[in-house]
Amino acid sequence: MYIYQLSYVSQSVGAMNDHELQDLLAKARHYNVSEQLSGVLIYSQGLFLQLLEGEEDKVNALFERIKQDPRHKDILVFFENYTKHRIFGNWSMAYKATKDYDLEAKKGIEHFIQGFHNSSVVCTKSEWFDVLNRIQTQQS
Ligand SMILES: Cc1cc2nc3c(=O)[nH]c(=O)nc-3n(C[C@H](O)[C@H](O)[C@H](O)COP(=O)(O)O)c2cc1C
Repeated sequence: MYIYQLSYVSQSVGAMNDHELQDLLAKARHYNVSEQLSGVLIYSQGLFLQLLEGEEDKVNALFERIKQDPRHKDILVFFENYTKHRIFGNWSMAYKATKDYDLEAKKGIEHFIQGFHNSSVVCTKSEWFDVLNRIQTQQS
């Protein structure tokens, strides 16, 4: 069975502090574990980038809820993929403050955000994969 991966970018409505992010993550992880969903959330410069991965119906059901969430707006899906292997198989929703990633991962995130601001052509699939794989190696 194939794993469906979906990534979107969205704009935070108001700055999220660490407490608010941790609260969001705790609830998200609880739900995601129960649905065998995995992924990563990046929050940088007022933007959310998220990868959701799992059974396609479950990813779509969660994404419908996420789209209704008043904490963000201007949600843009930029990546969909079917794969045999999850990138964040050990993570119901990985998260690290962007400043805590290594330089290469930070550059990847920065490159993505620049591309988004400049043209809305966010970045290529392989560039996004590189960012995801890079940050996956740094979860602990
Ligand atoms: C950027 C962002 C990412 C989110 N990611 C998840 C997630 O991975 N899993 C989850 O259950 N909720 C996530 N949420 C929270 C959902 O939008 C929603 O609040 C939660 O599923 C509760 O839904 P309900 O209010 O319909 O019960 C996220 C919210 C935001 C703003």
